[in-house]
This record gives sequence, C-alpha cells and structure tokens, in this order.
Amino acid sequence: MSETKVYPVDTEFASQSWVDNDTYLSMYEKSITDPEGFWGEHGRRIEWMKPYTRVKNTSFDPHNVDIRWYEDGTLNASVSCLDRHLESRGDQVAIIWEGDDPSEDENITYRDLYERVCKFANALKAQGAKKGDVITLYMPMIPEAAVAMLACARIGAVHSIVFGGFSPDALAARVEGGQSNIVITADQSLRGGKAVPLKDNVDLALKNAGTECCKKVVVVKRTGGDIAWDDSRDVWYEEIVADASTECAPEEMGAEDPLFILYTSGSTGQPKGLKHTTGGYMVYASMTHQYAFDYKDGDIYWCTADVGWVTGHSYIVYGPLANGATSLMFEGVPSYPDNSRFGRVIEKHKVNQFYTAPTAIRALMQQGEDVLGDSDLSTLKVLGSVGEPINPEAWEWYHRIIGQGRCPIVDTWWQTETGGMMIMPLPGATAAKPGSATRPFFGVQPALVDNEGNILEGATDGNLVITDSWPGQGRSIWGDHDRFVQTYFSTFKGYYTTGDGARRDEDGYYWITGRVDDVINVSGHRMGTAEVESALVAHPKVAEAAVVGYPHDIKGQGIYVYVTLQAGIEESDELLKELRTWVRSEIGPIATPDLVQFAPGLPKTRSGKIMRRILRKVAEDDFGSLGDTSTLADPTVVDDLINNRQNRK
Ligand code: PRX
Repeated sequence: MSETKVYPVDTEFASQSWVDNDTYLSMYEKSITDPEGFWGEHGRRIEWMKPYTRVKNTSFDPHNVDIRWYEDGTLNASVSCLDRHLESRGDQVAIIWEGDDPSEDENITYRDLYERVCKFANALKAQGAKKGDVITLYMPMIPEAAVAMLACARIGAVHSIVFGGFSPDALAARVEGGQSNIVITADQSLRGGKAVPLKDNVDLALKNAGTECCKKVVVVKRTGGDIAWDDSRDVWYEEIVADASTECAPEEMGAEDPLFILYTSGSTGQPKGLKHTTGGYMVYASMTHQYAFDYKDGDIYWCTADVGWVTGHSYIVYGPLANGATSLMFEGVPSYPDNSRFGRVIEKHKVNQFYTAPTAIRALMQQGEDVLGDSDLSTLKVLGSVGEPINPEAWEWYHRIIGQGRCPIVDTWWQTETGGMMIMPLPGATAAKPGSATRPFFGVQPALVDNEGNILEGATDGNLVITDSWPGQGRSIWGDHDRFVQTYFSTFKGYYTTGDGARRDEDGYYWITGRVDDVINVSGHRMGTAEVESALVAHPKVAEAAVVGYPHDIKGQGIYVYVTLQAGIEESDELLKELRTWVRSEIGPIATPDLVQFAPGLPKTRSGKIMRRILRKVAEDDFGSLGDTSTLADPTVVDDLINNRQNRK
C-alpha cells in the first residue's frame, strides 16, 4: 500500500480557530468522561423556553432502547433559528438564494425570513394544520422550502421532506407512512434549465395510492407552468400568505417532541421514516456546523445538498440558522449553464465554507483542471465532503484545485440516523489524511466489532458501531419502534450499528470502507438493493431480479442489475430500455440501473438464498476470488453469468 500523505494543520489557521488540537483533546475527554456536564453546558447554545434540568437519559439495551436528551426542557426550533437573531442581526442575510438560472438570486435577511415563516405558519394554521400533524414537503430548492420547514416547526407540526427527484409512487408511500394531511409543493421545479412536474407528481401520488389522509395541497408558484387544479384540495401559497400576520407565537415543544421525519433506505423492505426530535438535534446540528467548518460571524457558507436529504436539513437550514449564519441555497446543478457554475457561485457570493459530495468533485475532475474557469476562489477558507467515501485522488484534486492548496478539507462521516456529523476532522485541530474521516466529534464513541460483536482494539478492520448515545441521534422509526430496535440495536447488542465497515489506523483515524449490508451508495444517495429489486419484479416480464453495486468512476457506486425474464420472453435492447424507464418511474431517476445483464439463472444456495457475494464479484469483473461456490444449488449458473457479462448494457 502506498504511504498515506498527511496534511498537518496550518498553525496560523489553528491559532484563530474555535478548536485547536489541545482543545479538541480536552473537550473530547470531558465529553466522554462527563457527558452530563459536557452536554449540559453545550445544550445552552440554543434557546430554551423552559430550561432543562436533566441532560442524558439513554439506553441502547435491545430490550429497552430509549433515547432522551434534555427531556424536561421545552423549546421551539424556529426560535433558535429566527427570533433570537432579530435584535442582533435582523438585517443580516440569513439565506442567499441562487437560482437555477444565474441571473436569478435573492438575499433574505433574518427579519424577512422571520416574517415569511410567521406568515406561512399562520396560513398553515388557517388551513387546519396543528401541533403533531405530519406535513409532507415535496419542494424545489427555493427559499419557500426553508420557510415551510421552519413554519412547520413554529406550529409544532412534523415535517417529512420527500426529495423532489422521487417518483409519484415513492411520494405516495411516504405521504401514507406519515398519514400526512397536508402536502406542500410547487408547480414545477427547475434544474439545469429543465422543468420537473412536481405538482403533477403530487396529483398522481394522491390519486394512485388512494391516499385518503391528505386533504390539502399548498402550491408555490415557481415556474408558472401548466398544472391541473382541484378547487376542493389545492391552494396557492402566495394567496394564503398574502394577508397572514407577520407574527405567530411559537408553539412550546418538549425537547423530545418530533421535529421531523426523514425516510431513508435500508437493506430490507420499504424505506424507513427516521424520527428526529427537537432539543438534542438542534444542539448537535448547530454545534457540529460551527466546529466542523470553523464558522465565524459574517462568513458565507454554502452546502450544495438538497433539503430533501438529511444534509440539507442539518447543514442548510437548522445548524447554520441556529448559528446566525448566512447560508447559501442553490437551486441548480453544477453543470448548468456550464461546468464552471460552482466556481462562479463561490465568486459571486464570496463563499467562505463550501460543503459538497465526492461525486460532484469527481464529475468536475473529469472536466480538467481549468473546469472552474477564471473564477475567484480566494474567499474560501474550509472545504467539506459528505455522503460517501472520498477517494484520495478526488481529495487531492479538491484540495489543490478548489482549495488552492490552502483550505483544510473536512471529510464528514455521518448518516440520516445520526442527525449530524459523527467522525470528521476539525480544521484547526486535526491533521488530515486524504480518504480518512479521521476522529470522532465530541461525545461520539466509535468502536469496531467483529461479526460476533466483540470489540476489536488497535489498528484493525471491523464493523463500525457507536457505543453510547449522542444528542442528534434519531430516536425511532416513525410508527415502528420495533423495527428501529431490530435494525440498529440487535445485531451487535448494546451498540448502535451503523451498517458501515471501517478501518482504524495506528493513529486511531477511521477510514470508512462502505456499507456492509445490502445498501449501495450511488452519487451519495443511499439506495436499498431490495427496493430496486422489488420495482423490477413488479414488471410483468421479469421473473426475478438481483441488484448489486459496482465501482463507478463518478458515482462511486453504480447500480448493476441481473434480470431473469419470465419463460418465453425474449431478451432485447428494447426490453432493456423499458426496464430502465420502469425503475425510473417506480422509484425516481436516482435509481436508474447503470448496467443490466439478462441472467437465465441466479446463483442460489440450496435453501434458495441468492448469493450476492458472487454477483458482486461478477459485476466487478473480479472472478479470481469467487470463493466457495460448492454450496450453490447449481454451480454452472456462475459460468453462465461470467460468459454472459459481455452482453450487459
Ligand atoms: O455509508 C456511509 C455513507 O453514507 C451513508 C449514510 O447515508 P445517508 O443516510 O443518506 O446520509 C448521507 C449524508 C450524511 C453512511 O452509512 N457516508 C456518508 N458520509 C460518508 C460516508 N462514507 C464515507 N465517508 C463519508 N464522509
């Protein structure tokens, strides 16, 4: 193995940063030896209505998984993000919105945002929304998405955001799952100059799924494109907020009252709605945002994620706004109008911290070193990476080309379930090693275990678990606590199971090696192979399907599909195309198979279990190490798969 390069912390950077290495070590020590004291102190970084007296009350015992932080405190998340900034920074920009078209942008001050949120909160109440309701958002990346999130929080409603790239069926399942009575959407969204029919998708979702629960659809006018209208159900956002008051008293919420649900994919069954609560989540999102990016007052911070993913929740909206930051929200894509867009936006808005995904970096990297043109990147101070492992080549490119060799990179490992960053360097404290997420954040106790759940010491590989709770942790799966316990706490008893594998090196640095379950990570989007398989077998010509990930230059992992057709159905290029379109329409474009191979048979054990290990090896063209195939019901299937792989497309 080639020797790992180490990028030491710049001493000048360290001297002005929130946390240098000594501070990191002492704060980390305190956070582990005295979590009550540590989090008791840092919990006060957000606004409370009634201060808490209890800090941590958590159990990972599989018979009684129960996670509570600050449980007797009360608060409203929107107050920390809005009200408390009015006096000190009412005229400071809270959200810079950069439209899909570079000629469109908008600056929204904290006062503007406060008023918009209050207006919409009042309008939602007038539409019948109340504390405890689940409200689904299916939105473009426009300021109204953040307004809607905060308005829900204001009235004590629980938002459930569905990424705007999901299909009507996927949306319907999530509306049903939350028994949502209101959906907030837009006529269309715009990405790379193309309109996406959000409202049409909502209509289809509500019709096809027979969702009875949803009574109102609030529609923001984004493009003015043609849409169908149901007078009994649909209302225009602009109309219902027009006369609403700019003041709305915040609902008093318990620290453990839910703030949002967010669906994510697992290795089995339907996506699960992770439940995040209010107090601990806000403390954790704001604290990680401040320290990971070394955020200082007046900095312009840009996270390129979509609010439909957890990164958008914690690091476009809640974390930055709780910190009084200026958070840039980008509607478009990195390749429109051309590949220099990221650079142009950084220059135009004088961005100081930039947070994106390895897949975006690799896509830019392919375009060459001058991809950002003559954009002025000199305002940048810290760069972040999230969503998937960053390969050292992409790290080096990011550092050299975007960071101009001087900006520290924070490679942040975390998950929808964790609410905020868990393992990452702090830019003034941690020497970086390209490809490593490095060390745990305060209060996070990672460990590696073998397949039997024994803790492994020293430099080694293993299953990554977290041995004790942290405030941002998801508390349950909406409506199914047993599944929460089953998924995360029963494999390795007493620990939170991340589903990731990792290596720890001799310096105690963690290197995330990827999922150890049947989840693949496509362009930083998490995809359950079972979801794609069930979409495929729902096609009338498909008898059986197996889906695995394979290494993909830009996406990190691509979706490789093995399909067994029904008897009598001919293989053809048309059918191949049809299957791709089918999966897109069942789940969404992010699930589109990259490679499809027709397979007359799949490798199964005698008990009928598909041996994915073999399918993965064939997909990777790695036949030398297929391992033991003697337990297969029909070992000749493997030769067929290998011989047939030339026909994959
Ligand atoms: O496998 C890990 C990978 O993404 C998974 C979590 O996906 P999701 O819940 O969609 O959240 C993505 C945004 C936090 C993890 O289980 N992952 C995320 N960040 C990293 C990563 N893998 C390696 N390095 C990272 N920095």
